[in-house]
Amino acid sequence: MGLSFKEAVEKRRTYYGISNASPVSDAEIQEIIEEAVKNVPSAFNSQSTRIVLLLGENHKKFWNITKEILRKILPTDAFGATENKIDGAFGAGYGTVLFYEDQEVVEGLQKTFALYSENFPVWSQHTSAMHQYVIWTALEEVGFGASLQHYNPLVDTEVAKAWDINPRWKLIAQLPFGTPTVQPGEKEIAPIEKRVLVYR
Ligand SMILES: Cc1cc2nc3c(=O)[nH]c(=O)nc-3n(C[C@H](O)[C@H](O)[C@H](O)COP(=O)(O)O)c2cc1C
Repeated sequence: MGLSFKEAVEKRRTYYGISNASPVSDAEIQEIIEEAVKNVPSAFNSQSTRIVLLLGENHKKFWNITKEILRKILPTDAFGATENKIDGAFGAGYGTVLFYEDQEVVEGLQKTFALYSENFPVWSQHTSAMHQYVIWTALEEVGFGASLQHYNPLVDTEVAKAWDINPRWKLIAQLPFGTPTVQPGEKEIAPIEKRVLVYR
């Protein structure tokens, strides 16, 4: 597609309407993830981020697990809307990126650098967010649409069981993606001059 960085940043949006078609090969998707994990910065270069890329039946399985957990805890009338969202939006996509942070790494840093102990869990979240943003934008750049979801911690145990996830990995966010079928609406952007101050 060859979007510039600026264009990709401008174009990235939240897409709920997505299909299970892919504009690129699975190898390219994997490469996007691996490049992000190699190059996105982390506090003290801790490299605490872990990613699980779910494609095909694995992607569907994730959303089925999520749906069945929510079915058990939501009142019947509220569950209908959730079920529509999962089946019609997230589960209908091509894949899902699961973002984890390795707590063994975070706790190791807390022990080694006791002075910053309180900061490491916060920085781990920052690092995860940077990965989320880069991968979200890079998927947009090749023609996907994605949205950011947070069904953790509700789904953590069952997901860990299903994919034999290291128990020290903490699930932070989920990014379902696919080919856009519905374009996002216009976004309200708050006055920029109140949010960015420049002193020359
Ligand atoms: C930290 C963070 C958490 C978010 N959590 C969710 C979420 O749980 N579910 C969801 O549908 N969107 C979530 N979003 C998406 C935002 O609602 C969305 O990015 C925002 O409304 C701006 O729209 P845009 O993504 O189209 O630019 C999240 C975004 C961020 C940055």
